Amino acid sequence: MSFKDQLNTNKIPEHVAIIMDGNGRWAEKKGEHRVFGHTKGVESVREALTAAGEIGVKYLTLYAFSTENWNRPKEEVDALMDLLVKTITMEVDSLNENDVRLHVIGDLDSLPPGCKEALEESIEETKNNTRVNLILALSYSSRWEITRAIKNIVEDVQNGDLNSDDIDTETIDNYLNTVNFPEPELLIRTSGERRISNFLLWQLAYSELYFTETLWPDFKKENFFEAIYNYQKRERRFGKTSAQLLSDD
Ligand code: IPE
Ligand code: IPE
Ligand code: MG
Repeated sequence: MSFKDQLNTNKIPEHVAIIMDGNGRWAEKKGEHRVFGHTKGVESVREALTAAGEIGVKYLTLYAFSTENWNRPKEEVDALMDLLVKTITMEVDSLNENDVRLHVIGDLDSLPPGCKEALEESIEETKNNTRVNLILALSYSSRWEITRAIKNIVEDVQNGDLNSDDIDTETIDNYLNTVNFPEPELLIRTSGERRISNFLLWQLAYSELYFTETLWPDFKKENFFEAIYNYQKRERRFGKTSAQLLSDD
């Protein structure tokens, strides 16, 4: 039986985040250039997005390019930006056909102008879609996001729009790039690395973490369903005891 058939349809996470890792190693294993791996990785993005739509995941956040990834060789960065523009432009019709709304989190202003424009266009063209929200983390890092939030909070306190006594965790939520999205119940990282790499540090506070050895270009729909299946077997306690959870039911 497939993992999809074994899923409990009443326990589908609302939001899944993925650190799509391993493109370079996938290509190098085949004796190819790293960029070939990034190109193949686009197919896995389609797989994950389709899989999310099929089971009713409402938000899918994909870590596509980190603040630190700017430090890669220029040739690889340029190829990634090029791939991004081409993919976004090519996929917008398919996003609309599948009722997918595109969002971006990260420092959009740091992207090449053509890239930023292509993204803004696709965000606008898909804004009425409601089935799945696809959130691309681009030129994103959590420390960048939190630093920006703190600066904006301080500014609003200084200009009188915010009272410092009123600052609570919800205030912080509201100043992050993810303000409109629920927290991910599940984080998936491919390629065998077991770290967060500056991704959603605040938002992942209580997320379930799922690590798989599969390299991103090999990640297919069934791998996604397997991760959800694994998630569904876990007990999320949020600091309580098991007994408390059972009596809450
Ligand atoms: C993930 O794959 C994609 C990006 C970070 C842009 P990598 O390029 O990190 O691939 P590995 O980890 O080197 O194999
Ligand atoms: C994390 O992968 C960033 C993305 C997947 C976009 P990296 O490959 O950049 O992370 P590290 O360097 O292994 O931590
Ligand atoms: Mg990597």
